[in-house]
Amino acid sequence: MPSCRQGGQTITISTCVFDAYGTLFDVSAAARRAATEPEFAALSGVWPALAEDWRRKQLEYSWLRAVTGDHVDFWQVTQDGLDWALAAAGLTGDTALRQRLLDLYRELDTYPEVPAMLAALKSGGRQVAILSNGAPEMLADAVASAGIGDRLDAVLSVEAVGVFKPSARVYDLVGARLGCARKAVLFVSSNGWDACAAAGYGFATAWVNRAGAPPDRLGGAPDHVLDDLSGIPALAGL
Ligand code: LAC
Repeated sequence: MPSCRQGGQTITISTCVFDAYGTLFDVSAAARRAATEPEFAALSGVWPALAEDWRRKQLEYSWLRAVTGDHVDFWQVTQDGLDWALAAAGLTGDTALRQRLLDLYRELDTYPEVPAMLAALKSGGRQVAILSNGAPEMLADAVASAGIGDRLDAVLSVEAVGVFKPSARVYDLVGARLGCARKAVLFVSSNGWDACAAAGYGFATAWVNRAGAPPDRLGGAPDHVLDDLSGIPALAGL
């Protein structure tokens, strides 16, 4: 019987739902790859800081737009975050670099264990989905580029509700689209704030803490903390 610990109880998991950016897809891969290309040598010393600034501003803008109700899609937020990061690195005006980074963001690497982990969930009969801030077109590009589409039953974008995580309206998409009870869902995210919000919502949750970050001080707490995604099938009872 598939089972998972949640709030001290053993529960049955039918469905595994993954955050996309930072969880399945390595968001640092775009800047890391561009920095290896001779025409973008200016990135070589600064790409780690640029990647971190890009991600931080992308997320800040998503939260601020959710609070103010001034929604634009995640592709716009991704470009706005990149423009801030390029400015901070003194690289504003390098239009070729900007375009290359955006192109690479559409074909990010997955973390190495992702394809086999998703395949194990599918062959074990679990329903598997992405639930992401990403706009549908950027998610479709990332999934196609990674070759993982055959391991996913659904790719759910916040664009269906027009607000970013951690709004509960986003987590509502899982039950509405996949027809599963909250307690039958194992929600997996590398974003501590996303895992906390999903736990507060009532999903069983796993926080993938690759960086060894301290836990976020928010309402909910994840049920499981993992170093990478290889332990997810076991948490889903496989
Ligand atoms: C996502 C962001 C939060 O994929 O990484 O939803």
